[in-house]
Amino acid sequence: MSKVTIDTGTSRATPSPVPGKRTTVPSIRTRKQDGTTQQPIVMLTAYTMRMAQLLDPHCDMLLVGDSLGQVIYGLPSTIPVTVEMMCAHGAAVVRGSWHALVAVDMPFGSYEESPEQAFASAARIMKESGCAAVKIEGGEAMAPTIDFLSHRGIPVVGHVGLTPQAVNVLGGYGVRGREGPEAQKIVADARAVADAGAFCMVVEGVMEEIATKVAQTVPIPVIGIGASAECDGQVLVTEDMLGLFERTPRFVKRYDDLATRIGSAAQTYADEVRSRTFPSPDQTYRPKG
Ligand code: KIV
Repeated sequence: MSKVTIDTGTSRATPSPVPGKRTTVPSIRTRKQDGTTQQPIVMLTAYTMRMAQLLDPHCDMLLVGDSLGQVIYGLPSTIPVTVEMMCAHGAAVVRGSWHALVAVDMPFGSYEESPEQAFASAARIMKESGCAAVKIEGGEAMAPTIDFLSHRGIPVVGHVGLTPQAVNVLGGYGVRGREGPEAQKIVADARAVADAGAFCMVVEGVMEEIATKVAQTVPIPVIGIGASAECDGQVLVTEDMLGLFERTPRFVKRYDDLATRIGSAAQTYADEVRSRTFPSPDQTYRPKG
C-alpha cells in the first residue's frame, strides 16, 4: 500500500503548531530507574487522526492497538486485523500527534512464523505509518523475535498476561493467572520479554499479585491494563474509558458517557431536520448587506 498524505491546507487535518520534540523510546525506557518509576507512563489507544490530536497533549504514548478490529471495524476479535489496517491507522495517528510516542500493534499472523517475517512486517509498518515502535503479543516464545527486532532498529513493546490474539487457545478473555503455574509462567514471560530487549511492556488482565510481581521483577516499565496500580503506567482503550460502549470490562473506569451524549445530539439534530428548524439563518449562505 502506498503512503497516504493529506492536503493539510484544505482538510480538517491541519496540524496544530508543533511545540518541542516527540517523546523517544529511551525517554520512556529510562522512566524506570532501579525498579522505580517516579512519573507513571500515560498511554491510551488511538486509531484516527482527530482522536490522536485530542489525546496527544495528555499522553506519553499513543497505542494504535489491533483492538481497532472490534472498536472501528466491528470484527468479532483481533484475529482478522491486517497489516494494511495497522499501517493506515498508524499513519493517521502519527499525522495527528506531535508529542506522544506512537506504537503500532503487529497483527496476528504478521510476526509469529519467524524473526525474519516479524522484521519484514515491522519494517513495513514503521515505513508506512511513521511510528516509532511496534507491539508484539507473547512471552518466552517471542523472545528470539524481540531480540532480533530490537537489534535491528525496531523498538519493541512487549505484551504478556491476557494476549487477545491467543483467544482461541485461551478460550476467552478472562483474567489470567488465577492458578499458581500460570502465574509463574506470566512472570517468566515478562522476564523473557525484558531480557530480549523490549523497552517497555503491557501486562493485561492479570491478578493484582502477578502484576505487582512483574512490575517488581523486570527493569523496564510495565504498563498495566486490568492489572494493578503497582504498574509503571496504565493504558485503556479510549472508546471504553469515554463510555462509547454499553458493555465494558470491570477494569475499565468510564471517564465520560459519550454514547448517551452522542445519541442525544443525534436525536436533537434529527428533530430539528424534521421540524425544519435546522438549518437556521445562521447556517445559511445569503448575500451580505
Ligand atoms: O489492542 C489494544 O488496544 C491493546 C491494548 C488493550 C493494550 O493491545
